[in-house]
Amino acid sequence: MIPENFVQELLSRVDIVDVVERYVPLRKSGANFSACCPFHSEKSPSFTVSPSKQFYHCFGCGAHGSAIGFLMQHAGIGFVEAVEELAATTGLTVPREERHLAARAKKAPLTELMGQAMRFYREQLKSAPIAIDYLKGRGLTGEIAARFGLGYAPDGWQNLEQIFSDYNDPALVECGLVIVNEQGRRYDRFRDRIMFPILDQRGNVIGFGGRVMGKGEPKYLNSPETPIFEKGRELYGLPQARKAIHEQDTVLVVEGYMDVVGLAQAGVENVVATLGTAATAANVQKLMKTASRVVFCFDRDSAGDRAAWKAMEVSLEFLADNKRVEILQMPGDQDPDEFIREHGRDAFVQQTQNATRLSEFLVRELVRETNPNTPEGRAALVHAAKPLLQKVSAPVLRVQLTKEIAQRAQLTQAEVEAQCELRPLARSRYAPAQTKHRPTPSSIEHKLLEIILRKAEWAARLPLELIDRERPEGLVLHAIAEAFGHGELPSGGFGMLLEFFRSSPHEELIASVAATMTDEADMGALETVFNDAIDRLRQSALTTEIGHLTARAKTGLTDAEKQHLTALLARKKSAATPQPPADRGSF
Ligand code: UTP
Ligand code: MN
Repeated sequence: MIPENFVQELLSRVDIVDVVERYVPLRKSGANFSACCPFHSEKSPSFTVSPSKQFYHCFGCGAHGSAIGFLMQHAGIGFVEAVEELAATTGLTVPREERHLAARAKKAPLTELMGQAMRFYREQLKSAPIAIDYLKGRGLTGEIAARFGLGYAPDGWQNLEQIFSDYNDPALVECGLVIVNEQGRRYDRFRDRIMFPILDQRGNVIGFGGRVMGKGEPKYLNSPETPIFEKGRELYGLPQARKAIHEQDTVLVVEGYMDVVGLAQAGVENVVATLGTAATAANVQKLMKTASRVVFCFDRDSAGDRAAWKAMEVSLEFLADNKRVEILQMPGDQDPDEFIREHGRDAFVQQTQNATRLSEFLVRELVRETNPNTPEGRAALVHAAKPLLQKVSAPVLRVQLTKEIAQRAQLTQAEVEAQCELRPLARSRYAPAQTKHRPTPSSIEHKLLEIILRKAEWAARLPLELIDRERPEGLVLHAIAEAFGHGELPSGGFGMLLEFFRSSPHEELIASVAATMTDEADMGALETVFNDAIDRLRQSALTTEIGHLTARAKTGLTDAEKQHLTALLARKKSAATPQPPADRGSF
């Protein structure tokens, strides 16, 4: 856990405009900055960054957030990683448990060594005609080789001595570049191989895959797991593919290094590869963050079929109703690289367009395995579907799948749900809080929320008893006032407020109100609007109460009530006069 106050301090030190500008060229437009949205494909800019709100928002796709949110969304990284990255740019140190600190302190030099090695291997490629010929023979140009940082590890046992002053440095062993044998002799792990550097999100080299050029085992030698390289978490080619993934809102996932590079060579750039493992939960989560459509491409062999099934199983857990996962089983016995070289880009793209939706794949595979033409087969179908349906967390998808299975099993949806012990799905943590009303931009509560988002400390002045919790905006006002009352809320601008409410049911509404509110620089004017809104709130409460009493007047009021009504009417008459603060709620 990163302490909340550190997050707030961090946000107070950075300017979201600088952060965004590192990745997206911004143009000044009025008080804000604008650009074509990096999160969806568009021709005219609907992405704005507000320096005063420390907030970005896209009117096209709805993307929004603070500087931290931007890094998370843009780099597809988690909250902690984004905080660390931002902290690194400000020189702040993220306060964490000792263990993490130690791990981090180690990290930087290891990636530094790996970077040096990559540069060495690239240099070596230039003077290795055999390696260049190998790459050319596989249809690659120098441009693509450079883009992926391909290199060549020369033959020989200790070539890395040329670049590392201390070849005995244990860090070289730790990052997997050097191996120590039982006699204590040290030698380079990679010898006489084509080198594929594996980069993390930030472009640090964290591992290598090295391919033999002729025959030889293993075909690919990979870096071992190290403090900087965890195979199950990484995706090969992600930094190079990032832009194309954004543009197409689709990411293709292939099995091999050469598939990524070969497809890029042919002009298909939105491609990443898992690292010799089946797709893991971490992979799938990361993929779902980068695009709304994920297409897994598998070779049509038994390993590929197993991998497809595994990818389906893992995806079920992380799928959301607004995301699509598809499975492409390559025709014939070609992998994507071989296919595109023989048939060309268009034919490959055509294949991806005909990929099988996850739901269809699931049902098709289950049906194939269980043969529901007999009662036993239909029972087996439901039995096999049970663990899969239980994994699905996307509510609509689960209903659809349940219906499909029910139809084939000749049961009702309810029967399948009961047989599979499907529990009702919890409301998404991102769903809006349950209130009786929808947000209404014309309401007083909405206006007040706009103001409070800019001046959270004024929450203390809100007449909470008059603010309706049944209105979404009212509920958020209560939440802010409560947090402020407990001294939990920082008064440091909107970005902080948004971070404070991250993942809470209020996040969505806060972001959407913030997105449409105008920039009000004049705090004096803001205060007048604030006071007016509170006055209107009081007036409206007054009118409501008068309304109730007058309605009941027909059936008779007590003397006290009559007196009260008269007082209320008098007060309404002098409506223009501001109410003294002591009057709060005690009519
Ligand atoms: P493949 O055997 O399908 O190779 O391995 P490929 O991708 O088609 O490679 P080329 O075209 O022959 O050069 C797929 C992936 O499995 C991992 C690698 O990540 C590889 O890209 N692998 C394979 C290994 O790690 N080691 C191996 O010996 C073989
Ligand atoms: Mn291949």
